[in-house]
Amino acid sequence: MEFIKGKGQIKAEIVVNGKKKFEEYGFEGKDGEVLVLPEKKRIYVGIDKIDSENLKIATASIIKALKKYKFESVEVTPPNTKNKDLLISFFEGFILGDYEFDKYKTTKAKHPIKVIAINSKRDFDKIIQEAKVRANAINFVRDIINSIPDEITPKRLASIAEEVAKENKLKCKVYDEKYLYKNGYHAFYSVGKASNNPPRLIHLTYKPKKPKRKIVLVGKGLCYDSGGLSLKPSEFMVTMKSDKSGAVTVLGIIKAISELGLDIEVHAILGAAENMIGGNAYKPDDVLKAKNGKTIEVRNTDAEGRLVLADCLCYAQENIKDFDYIMDFATLTGACVVGLGEYTAGIMGFNTDTIQKVIEVGEKRGEHFAYLPFNKYLPKLLKSNVADICNISSTRYGGALTAGLFLSEFIEKENKDKWTHFDIAGPAFVEKEWGCNPYGASGFGVDTIVTLLKSL
Ligand code: BES
Ligand code: ZN
Ligand code: ZN
Repeated sequence: MEFIKGKGQIKAEIVVNGKKKFEEYGFEGKDGEVLVLPEKKRIYVGIDKIDSENLKIATASIIKALKKYKFESVEVTPPNTKNKDLLISFFEGFILGDYEFDKYKTTKAKHPIKVIAINSKRDFDKIIQEAKVRANAINFVRDIINSIPDEITPKRLASIAEEVAKENKLKCKVYDEKYLYKNGYHAFYSVGKASNNPPRLIHLTYKPKKPKRKIVLVGKGLCYDSGGLSLKPSEFMVTMKSDKSGAVTVLGIIKAISELGLDIEVHAILGAAENMIGGNAYKPDDVLKAKNGKTIEVRNTDAEGRLVLADCLCYAQENIKDFDYIMDFATLTGACVVGLGEYTAGIMGFNTDTIQKVIEVGEKRGEHFAYLPFNKYLPKLLKSNVADICNISSTRYGGALTAGLFLSEFIEKENKDKWTHFDIAGPAFVEKEWGCNPYGASGFGVDTIVTLLKSL
């Protein structure tokens, strides 16, 4: 898809809040409405107000609606605003709407629109460049998450990370299962040990000349989560290829940041493993020792993400010195989806300034985040009678919070205020189209976090 200045074969118009109506076609210009008039060479999409979310959805739906037709170029007028967020969203939408996951289909999707013709005298080159980097990173994330577990094993995820590193001149270190075992990452190691596809800890570094901040991103990369011996019921196991979303999101973020050449040092730590069953599987009743020496009683092998992340957080704090922020991303709990729904991520941590900022930037980029506050009654729910801490809560309530609190136990005192946890179990993967997102992986978080890191 190419962006040029000039005229297109069909003209698109975004109608705000019913400002234009075509009663003869039943088009009232309401939010979400799309009207294509191929003979008149016009397409109209309705939104209720101009914001980032709506603009992405509007331009994405122009592309989606035109897939049925033969037009190869569409003419658009960008909104008359200086607001960079709105403009980036406007341009991103076209690329996001063009995305279709047809890797495993024998008949491939059609992509008739090749050219976005911009009807304006203004110069949008820089904005378009940034929109392309972001949208391509999001589509890249969607593709990996949607790919099947037989293909995206921890080893393959590591090789994808190495490819990204090579293209963008990043450093990339990959540690295998032997390293994890020998060096005391036994929580992470144990989760992956029943699988024929052994775990990998992947560490990418983007280091520009004079970085003004140092940021660590950690991602849960469960290439498959069967639940382990605490096996998931069949209906809940389907979609668990998406349990690698946190790690892939972090990979997408570092890819976009390096392509944009931002002046921040970024580390991406991906904890890749498969949670499987077998004679060698880790068991409920096991006690695991994490890298920081803390012992964990396993009472449910399906609460595996926090075990992988615990060791990845230890790795980060031991190996990366003097960072300003540490953020982890994970499809960590079903409870977060129950609580917030499929379209909102949960954020937890002790630094409410950072959390406030995430929510604000999220609104500017058209993504939804909600703060889930810890309280003093929660820690006792993770008490264990045999180890330092238990990997599940003693109650079934507040599971997103107790999972987040578990992770906080692996954050050193001096880093508590630098840490933020993102539970993206809802929006990372949805089995229906929503907003500008297709069925399946959304790439949620990339857009917001890139802007957030830019602003820190
Ligand atoms: N990967 C799941 C969480 C999940 C559920 C992500 C649904 C996306 C959609 C995680 O590893 C898990 O199984 N968590 C358990 C924790 C429980 C055993 C304490 C859960 O949420 O049920
Ligand atoms: Zn699980
Ligand atoms: Zn999981």
